[in-house]
Amino acid sequence: MQYGDADTTYKAAGCAAGILQLVDHFYDIMQESYPVIFSWHPGDNSVSRDKLARFLSGWMGGPRRYKDKYGPINLPHAHAHLNVTLKERDQWLECMAKALERMQYPMDLQSYLIEQLTVPAERIRQVCASRTS
Ligand code: HEM
Repeated sequence: MQYGDADTTYKAAGCAAGILQLVDHFYDIMQESYPVIFSWHPGDNSVSRDKLARFLSGWMGGPRRYKDKYGPINLPHAHAHLNVTLKERDQWLECMAKALERMQYPMDLQSYLIEQLTVPAERIRQVCASRTS
């Protein structure tokens, strides 16, 4: 089985517990090192942590936990009110790369996830650009 097949990625990431830890690292690193995008998140960001962890569960081929709690989502649309330019897109991906590293995932999993996450991140940037242009 390869990453991307069925729930291979979800399992390799440590299932629900692994993803929760990944998302905690992600937001901790964002708070420490990326204050601008961190400041865009509402409240104490506990809801954002819950949303991202649940979203990534389904996105990695595991249970669709985001939909179970929050209903359907259109990811670019959910970001359209933000001004995501190349800079913020790259900061988000860099922050995720550091969180993946902190998880000590195998290198091939780290690079697979960053490559795959670049697709929605770029789509978000494009939608934000078309909204503001
Ligand atoms: C491109 C850079 C990105 C930036 C700067 C960014 C930033 C944000 C911010 C600030 C929020 C909170 C919005 C609000 O509640 O007002 C948010 C929500 C969210 N983000 Fe991102 N994000 C990015 C990319 C991604 C990617 C690539 C994913 C998933 C693969 C993702 C998943 C989510 C999810 C699931 C939510 C919750 C949406 C909702 O329920 O409304 N984001 N993001």
